[in-house]
Amino acid sequence: MSKQWGGRFEGKTDDLMEALGESVSFDARLAPWDIRASIAHARMLGSQAIIAKGDANKIIKGLRAIAADVAKDRIQWDPALEDIHTNIEAALVARIGDAGKRLHTGRSRNDQIATDVRLWERDQIDAVIGQLRDLQAALVAFAEKHRGVIIPGFTHLQHAQPVLLAHHFLAYFEMFERDRQRFVQLRKRMNVLPLGSAAMAGVPYPLDRRQVARELEFDTISANSMDAVSDRDHVIEFCSNAAIVMMHLSRLCEELILWSSQEFAFIEIGDAFTTGSSIMPQKKNPDVAELVRGKTGRVYGDLNALLTLMKGLPLTYNRDLQEDKEPVFDASDTLQLCLTVTARMIPTIRIDETRMAEAVREGFMEATDLADALAVKGMPFREAHGIIGRIVLYCTKKRKRLTDLTLEEFKTFSPLFDQSIVDGLAPRAIVSRRNIPGGTAPRRVAAAIRRAKRSLEK
Ligand code: ARG
Repeated sequence: MSKQWGGRFEGKTDDLMEALGESVSFDARLAPWDIRASIAHARMLGSQAIIAKGDANKIIKGLRAIAADVAKDRIQWDPALEDIHTNIEAALVARIGDAGKRLHTGRSRNDQIATDVRLWERDQIDAVIGQLRDLQAALVAFAEKHRGVIIPGFTHLQHAQPVLLAHHFLAYFEMFERDRQRFVQLRKRMNVLPLGSAAMAGVPYPLDRRQVARELEFDTISANSMDAVSDRDHVIEFCSNAAIVMMHLSRLCEELILWSSQEFAFIEIGDAFTTGSSIMPQKKNPDVAELVRGKTGRVYGDLNALLTLMKGLPLTYNRDLQEDKEPVFDASDTLQLCLTVTARMIPTIRIDETRMAEAVREGFMEATDLADALAVKGMPFREAHGIIGRIVLYCTKKRKRLTDLTLEEFKTFSPLFDQSIVDGLAPRAIVSRRNIPGGTAPRRVAAAIRRAKRSLEK
């Protein structure tokens, strides 16, 4: 490997240096953003008369031509040139000659990579926000389609209280709403231009940093050159936000997997998102949901890699920072694939209403309402709780449901029972009584669906 900036060296680089040090095999994907930033930098150098306007124009034209070739996949990147920055600079000089050698005036690869990553990340954030929105829309549509359906609500994975299926799915809507807001907030925080910091101390040229920021649509410019070239907080935040989304996706997928099992048999995921077994002809496996659950682990790994990468770095730029790319690229790719595939899978889910209705009858889910009914009649709730517990025990021994008991049987446990209490045990009555903000009553859930749709339109 010949040396890029060999003036200071007498010896050759060790052969393994290229394998260890090249980054173009993975940072080549930054080319469109690198070129965009270079065009803004060149234009500013020209308008500030730091380089001749004619040279600036040649650079801009040359960079545009390279961008067109990049888009057509017509450029062969050379790992001997190390990274995407030097590859593009070399391509520029090859194309336009000496003017190309003036592009790097008042700039370092340190502020260049910091700028490229922010530009790339900003576009990924916008994409993720859109994908989260699509997923939320799929959840709302699913909730609305099945808005009358009642299922068991679970705590400890035991039947707890009946709820609307829509209420259950809207819980995920809320999680992804917070996730979306986290990306919206990150976008504001990270939309800051590092260019102008150069290696780390700033430059002696009269750069117009604000002009560059405007052209690149940054809200502002970085306040401290040393921070600007060595800060990767935003990359960590991106991966942290991604990890939280993946955690939510994984929980959702875990439920879809459980619900597709013969034990639950609540749902069937569409053929496009399930696979067969190589040996068992009857199998229909929820592989997609399992893979999303599984891929969550690698995104956590990406976040961990970045936190560990950063913890011992003194100011300012250290070459270790090159190692931030693969984790953040992986987290972004994995997240976007998983969001998109999950949003597409949800509309293919068919539900088994009969099975759900059967399940709602199991597990004594009327018990809380019975205790509440006695409490309303004046009995202290704790006392009512004890009485209903004894009734449940009685039912377990007699192999009966609470709804099988007659008023006479209830009255042997407390004289406060009356017909209206017994009549109020239908699942729909139980659900409708949770008519409180945030509750599962059909009225509240209908309002939640309207609110959800409005927040997606914003
Ligand atoms: N490829 C490098 C990175 O990703 C670009 C900056 C290199 N700067 C340097 N001084 N070696 O961080």
